[in-house]
Amino acid sequence: MTNSSASDPFSAVATYYDLLMQSIPYLWWMHYVETLLDYFDRPAQKVLDLCCGTGNLSELMAMSGYTVVGVDRSAAMIEQARRKAQENRSSVRYYVQDAAELELGETFDLIVSLFDSLNNITAPARFAEAMRRAYQHLNSNGVFIFDLNTEYAFVRKFFDQTQLDERAPLRYRWRSQYDKATRLCTVQMEFWVREGETERYFTEVHTQRAYSEQEVRTMLYDAGFPEVHLFDAYTLHPPERRSDRVFYVALR
Ligand SMILES: C[S@@+](CC[C@H](N)C(=O)[O-])C[C@H]1O[C@@H](n2cnc3c(N)ncnc32)[C@H](O)[C@@H]1O
Repeated sequence: MTNSSASDPFSAVATYYDLLMQSIPYLWWMHYVETLLDYFDRPAQKVLDLCCGTGNLSELMAMSGYTVVGVDRSAAMIEQARRKAQENRSSVRYYVQDAAELELGETFDLIVSLFDSLNNITAPARFAEAMRRAYQHLNSNGVFIFDLNTEYAFVRKFFDQTQLDERAPLRYRWRSQYDKATRLCTVQMEFWVREGETERYFTEVHTQRAYSEQEVRTMLYDAGFPEVHLFDAYTLHPPERRSDRVFYVALR
């Protein structure tokens, strides 16, 4: 049995991440990001995929003609992304870096961070630093777009998911616990993977923090962004009380 390490909670699942994401509509997500860019009339060519994971969005954006750099703090996830780039013969450059310590020496038209990646920064001071670093890595007129799970999603246990169908190549059971005092949601994840005649079992523990809309807005303003807009995920409507995912669009 393998476990993820505290410094890289995605280390154990990295090899199987794409199997897990098989039904995730990355193309549709990219189109939503492009809709937001159009909405604010901010054309983009050079893109940073922040917390890019195994590079699914990065590779799609590169195939669509964007110049893309991907950054993730997990070396195991970046290893998968680089393997994919090689297979695709894509020009995406991938770096292992933490969003709160981002230092690339170049700037971008768009920084995008999808799939609640930034909820994984559980210390508010580091989250605020990640906002500052994003601002510093944008061209004037650049845009920072990211989505976050809301407290509503944690309270309603949206993280509790089970796929135990014997025929599935990857089976899993996730159980979450949300602590309202610390605003931390801890998810105990169990996985079973069939490998030939044998089955491999491994676990991961992921912790995410719920950031309130006001908290994030304030951090973005403090980072230097003069304009911040919020949307209920994948719409152009403002978030509601029961939004489980919110998109933030910060304009530089
Ligand atoms: C749910 S995955 C999403 C990956 C990718 N954005 C996608 O949509 O498939 C979250 C990713 O965020 C990364 N991550 C978490 N905290 C990070 C941080 N502080 N800096 C950089 N990457 C981080 C993890 O290593 C993981 O690859």
